[in-house]
Amino acid sequence: MLKIEKNNQPKVKPPVKELGFGKYFSDHMFQATFTLGEGWHSAKITPYQALQIEPGASALHYGQALFEGMKAFRQTNGDCVLFRPEFNCRRLADGAERLCMVAPPQELMLEGIRELVKIDRDWIPSSRGASLYLRPTLIGTESFLGVRPAEEYLFFVICSPVASYYAEGTAPIKIWVEETYIRAAPGGLGATKAGANYAASLKAAYQAKQRGYAQVLWQDVGHEYVEEVGTMNVFFVFENEVVTPKLDGSILPGGVRDSVLTLLKKFNIPVNERKLSMKEVCSAYETGKLKEVFGTGTAAVISPVGELSSPHYKMVINEGKTGPLAQRLYDAITGIQYGDQPDTFGWNHKF
Ligand SMILES: Cc1ncc(COP(=O)(O)O)c(C=O)c1O
Repeated sequence: MLKIEKNNQPKVKPPVKELGFGKYFSDHMFQATFTLGEGWHSAKITPYQALQIEPGASALHYGQALFEGMKAFRQTNGDCVLFRPEFNCRRLADGAERLCMVAPPQELMLEGIRELVKIDRDWIPSSRGASLYLRPTLIGTESFLGVRPAEEYLFFVICSPVASYYAEGTAPIKIWVEETYIRAAPGGLGATKAGANYAASLKAAYQAKQRGYAQVLWQDVGHEYVEEVGTMNVFFVFENEVVTPKLDGSILPGGVRDSVLTLLKKFNIPVNERKLSMKEVCSAYETGKLKEVFGTGTAAVISPVGELSSPHYKMVINEGKTGPLAQRLYDAITGIQYGDQPDTFGWNHKF
């Protein structure tokens, strides 16, 4: 049985136009603890509050820290749904296995998430494009020095009401093709949502911002093949083929990427998951065969890319406008999330 400690000092909710992304947190959080011998215990909903962990906690030194990002929506008819929560719980468990961490059982994660969004239901914004973003997080809390997996963990979930991820809203963004740094390498942590991957990405992302670009496009270790964007997977629409980089262990297996692959199949649009070099992209651009580029991710849903640039080229894609496939996919996914379209894949979990 989940213990529930209600927050008797609820915060004033910010107006939707001020939400931005990840600036505000709701009134409650979910927490559960793992200790060796006892397993997972002390699962509870509490007021949103500061954590108390030892300065020797392994997450702070050896980076045993993993997180997830998922959303709850208020649908047009007032129903509230979580979008594909089991996908995120499974990915967290897969990441935990790679980082030698102990993930909570799926049922515990799902129950905690469901109870949390129920208690903070009023925090789910009702306007189109806005949602309640959930951040499940797993950290090693055992206090010791010495490199080995921790024997104590904390799993917690916090919620943030959000609007659009990019300042551009749903308008096409400009992406910088990174040619110096890499985010992940074969055999590394790239397929997980380890905090370490984001630490590795900050410098290039900062430099790209300084140049006026929203995010970077990561390439493989040899700076030859496309991998993904800072917080999105990426799709290229050529004249006769839709391509997304194959999951090779260094790319995050995105939930929206998976949803897009499913929808493309339904639309009878062939898509290939394969290796794709920037050389091939540039040559398709030069011959007029590159029609659209878009990113996919929970935060931004479908984000058209209007420009791809590096020190060696500048490609303006589809005249910098949203392409028809990106628009169709955006409408299909948000249509299911907000309940305007039938959820034929069973992606929404009503609560
Ligand atoms: C590096 C990276 N790639 C891809 C994605 C897209 O994943 P998803 O569609 O599950 O949000 C994200 C966002 O979570 C990300 O951080």
